[in-house]
Amino acid sequence: MEIIRTVNRLAQVVDAARRDGKTIGLVPTMGALHAGHKSLVDRARRENDVVVVSVFVNPTQFNNADDLRTYPRTEEADCAMLEGCGADYAFVPTPDEVYPEPDNRVFDLGPVAEVMEGAMRPGHFNGVAQIVSKLFAWAKPTRAYFGEKDFQQIAVIRRMVELEGFDLEIVPCPIVRETDGLALSSRNVRLSPEARAIAPQIHRILADSVDLKKQGYEADQVEKLTLDAINNIDGLEAEYYSIVDARTMQPISRWADAGDLGAAGCATVYCGGVRLIDNIRY
Ligand code: PAF
Repeated sequence: MEIIRTVNRLAQVVDAARRDGKTIGLVPTMGALHAGHKSLVDRARRENDVVVVSVFVNPTQFNNADDLRTYPRTEEADCAMLEGCGADYAFVPTPDEVYPEPDNRVFDLGPVAEVMEGAMRPGHFNGVAQIVSKLFAWAKPTRAYFGEKDFQQIAVIRRMVELEGFDLEIVPCPIVRETDGLALSSRNVRLSPEARAIAPQIHRILADSVDLKKQGYEADQVEKLTLDAINNIDGLEAEYYSIVDARTMQPISRWADAGDLGAAGCATVYCGGVRLIDNIRY
């Protein structure tokens, strides 16, 4: 596996691969890689001739300077893991390489980016669109792989792809969980042992909410019961729990209002001061 630091070198290798008619799988990451990322890289490896994994903590998507400063950075372990997964290239640029000048682009991301994470983290999705559009332009992927833990992010990236006219396939990949149900996240390392013991309750409550639907409760009732159930656990505090159309990300109050992809419940929950996100499909 080659570690690439510059956009020029990345262009050389992907242009050569494209000339040879090879398919390119791109896995964009912010590093601190775990088994969830490994599942994306494994899938990209199975489905493409060439696999590029980017490792870059993108400053423009952080709306909190402390979060950016303390985001885990584990480059050496990340590269060892990627080598073990059979990635061909790890693209590990510096912020100056990615942003030689400030990126002032404002994407018209529309309603998918206005709710939930978009409402709670102003500018976050514009920053995601900035970095992912650059990565797509540089790596020229045939397919790009994203984890469904960041469920709304996938809808936002689809919108950016439509706006920019990229010709590629977005491949959503299932959430990978610890055996106790906690969704894998680079932020989990910040959980204290006490918080780590409580955090799996988030997935348990979300999974229970699927049973509420089966028992005949409407979407707005399930949303309220689920929110209350989260907030009733000592040590958990929900920022939001929203049942939305799984394509448009718009809130629904009746199951019948969900479109072709059905409904999803999206949660952001503070656990011991750590902001965790998770979701479930209905
Ligand atoms: O999901 C992430 O890790 C990041 O938002 C992404 C897509 C790599 C862009 O920085």
